[in-house]
Amino acid sequence: MRKLFLMTIIVLTALAALVAFAAEEAEAPAVPEAPAVPEDITIDGCMDTKAAVAFPHKAHFEFATCVDCHHTTEGLTAENFADLEIATCGSCHNEPEEAETPKCSEKSTKKNPYHLNCIVCHKAHKKEHADTAAPTKCTACHPKEEAAAKEEAAE
Ligand code: HEC
Ligand code: HEC
Ligand code: HEC
Ligand code: HEC
Repeated sequence: MRKLFLMTIIVLTALAALVAFAAEEAEAPAVPEAPAVPEDITIDGCMDTKAAVAFPHKAHFEFATCVDCHHTTEGLTAENFADLEIATCGSCHNEPEEAETPKCSEKSTKKNPYHLNCIVCHKAHKKEHADTAAPTKCTACHPKEEAAAKEEAAE
């Protein structure tokens, strides 16, 4: 008899929990999910002599503000990005209007807009943290096998 009573209590408690859970589910309003800032990006906007570069975009938000990199999109933040036009770097840097504007096809750190952005910061960071994961070597960003395959395909 005591056992049956205990069983009943357990079953009733479980049922009550289920009902409460179902009610909560039903109450949740159907909000459309906000668009998310891209987490990982493959940068492939340049002239294509080098392998595309893997870029952990979101991981960089703790090292720079949006406008540090998207320097022509005024006031850009993680909250308002969906309402703003974000031009690709290449749209301005592939064939820049001014000769002194950094150009995507350049190899050197001082003339390529990505190298100026990425490598300059990585090198500065490395000075303070010798063991950093921030890549500074050519092949760390432009994997060798892929580059070789591309050169072969272009021949
Ligand atoms: C921190 C990462 C990084 C490092 C290190 C790096 N690059 Fe780049 N490089 C890039 C990115 C990003 C691009 C733009 C790629 C694209 O849009 O296809 C680029 C573009 C280039 C381009 C022109 C793009 C093309 O496809 O024609 C050349 C050439 C180049 N890099 C050579 C080098 C050389 C040589 C080194 C070493 C001295 C080097 N890079 C080191 C990130 C890097
Ligand atoms: C360290 C540099 C850097 C930072 C910081 C950064 N971005 Fe980016 N972001 C890039 C690069 C590079 C691309 C690729 C652009 C391209 O393809 O030309 C990109 C691409 C994007 C894209 C995709 C654009 C498209 O046309 O598909 C969005 C959206 C974006 N970023 C929003 C943001 C927002 C919002 C922040 C701040 C919370 C931010 N970014 C911070 C470098 C950065
Ligand atoms: C709407 C056009 C436009 C877009 C989009 C753009 N840039 Fe630029 N960028 C320029 C011009 C013009 C200059 C040269 C004048 C200046 O420094 O503002 C420049 C300069 C730079 C410089 C040199 C700054 C310095 O201090 O010497 C870097 C680095 C750079 N851009 C990187 C980027 C990256 C990375 C992206 C994409 C995330 C990007 N740019 C998107 C037009 C653009
Ligand atoms: C304002 C500084 C800054 C800029 C600009 C920047 N980075 Fe970085 N990046 C860092 C730091 C700091 C780290 C190291 C994070 C760590 O040690 O965990 C890093 C790490 C990385 C890594 C290694 C991630 C890992 O954990 O293996 C890659 C790949 C990378 N960056 C690519 C790029 C590319 C490509 C660009 C240009 C489009 C760029 N970064 C621009 C600061 C920057």
